Amino acid sequence: SGALEGSNAKRGLWSSRLAFVLAATGSAVGLGNIWKFPYVTGENGGGAFVLVYLLCIAIVGIPIMMAEVMIGRRGGHSPVNSLRLITERDGLKPAWKLVGAIGVLAGFLILSFYSVIGGWAISYVGTTASGQLAGQSADAVGAIFSGLLSNPTTLLAWHTLFMGLVMLVVARGVRSGLERAVSILMPALFLLLLIVVGYAMTTGHFGQAVAFLFQPDFTKLTTSGVLVALGHAFFTLSLGMAVMMAYGSYLPKNISIAKTSITVSVIDTGVALLAGLAIFPIVFANGLEPSAGPGLIFQTLPLAFGQMPMGTLFGTLFFVLLIFAAWTSGISLLEPIVEWLEEQKGMNRAVSTLAAGIVCWTLGIASILSLNLWADFAPLGFIPMLEGKTIFDLLDFFTANILLPLGGLLVALFAGWVMSRQAMENELSLSPAMFNLWFVTIRFIAPIAVAVVFIYNLL
Ligand code: PFF
Ligand code: NA
Repeated sequence: SGALEGSNAKRGLWSSRLAFVLAATGSAVGLGNIWKFPYVTGENGGGAFVLVYLLCIAIVGIPIMMAEVMIGRRGGHSPVNSLRLITERDGLKPAWKLVGAIGVLAGFLILSFYSVIGGWAISYVGTTASGQLAGQSADAVGAIFSGLLSNPTTLLAWHTLFMGLVMLVVARGVRSGLERAVSILMPALFLLLLIVVGYAMTTGHFGQAVAFLFQPDFTKLTTSGVLVALGHAFFTLSLGMAVMMAYGSYLPKNISIAKTSITVSVIDTGVALLAGLAIFPIVFANGLEPSAGPGLIFQTLPLAFGQMPMGTLFGTLFFVLLIFAAWTSGISLLEPIVEWLEEQKGMNRAVSTLAAGIVCWTLGIASILSLNLWADFAPLGFIPMLEGKTIFDLLDFFTANILLPLGGLLVALFAGWVMSRQAMENELSLSPAMFNLWFVTIRFIAPIAVAVVFIYNLL
């Protein structure tokens, strides 16, 4: 293990536990928490879905995050090389190749539509700052949103700007400034969410929202809802595409992997639940549909900002912070692709960023058109589960619910069945009881949970 340990030092370690937590939180907290969590919760009936989601975070998400960080730190290299270096014995030989491939493919596909939604957030900075939301009705706010969606050129302009911002940081390879920014901007985002929750409490529908989110009604839970909850746990924690593995390779040896993984997961979950508490009272107070889909936050939050005191200021600030959260996540989506191109194709960083960025940007155009000209085009509509899903919906569904859980399954199998137990005990340095709890989870419980959900949905 001496050779593996030596490699960390050369690559420069995170200065502290905080630096790792900031980078990992920057990746985790993003559109998944504020845009996606409320809308998938609304589409899947609320409480029971939230409960399953929380269980997935605790039983599958946190153990797999620990495994990713552990493999990364043990290997001390990029994910693909870390996995290869650790696999000196037989076993799942192709695992490392497959995890790398899933990471690169998922990164491409997710970033393509993530950037389009990032573009919506950019657009709403202007919408809010101009004061045009003040005192608007739900219908007027809905019309502003439909107006945005119906205009492919505007969507393309904002998508291009978001993609450009992500590429800029990845091409320059310097992220320390941005990571430090996270330590100010994330608490600020948290605070603004609290302010909106405070406003939401005055709508008279807060209790209804709390009941919707936290009173499980299992008659509303479907098998596909369970798959979406599992998939969203991976998506929101940035798991299954080796991002946390890459970050873990920079983590100093004396820092607890369990504590840092739990910290990141708790922050991520907290932001998502706050977003839910901010949005659903507004949904109920204005007679909107919880199942409105991907547009939910853009049809509800603007209403709140239009009605609350200093709403123009708070609203503008909120969307600026949302862009930052999406930006740091977008960077972590592009990074593995660029690293892979550098390693495997020998391209330099600027060229590989440009190449990968242009491919994502081009693919994003299909998502943009799904919102207007191709809104009725459901390429896989003949499959019952995918009925009515546009290209945009399919990309979202396939990445979060299939690719990421598959990547996570491989990570769990690698840690549970391939890596040496001694090495893992050293890396995690948990008490024997805690280690065994984690080990049983990663060896049996997490893989079986993922497999069962997959199989149920195929049948
Ligand atoms: N976790 C991010 C979010 O919740 O917005 C999205 C994401 C980033 C997913 C990075 C996967 C990833 F590798
Ligand atoms: Na997240």
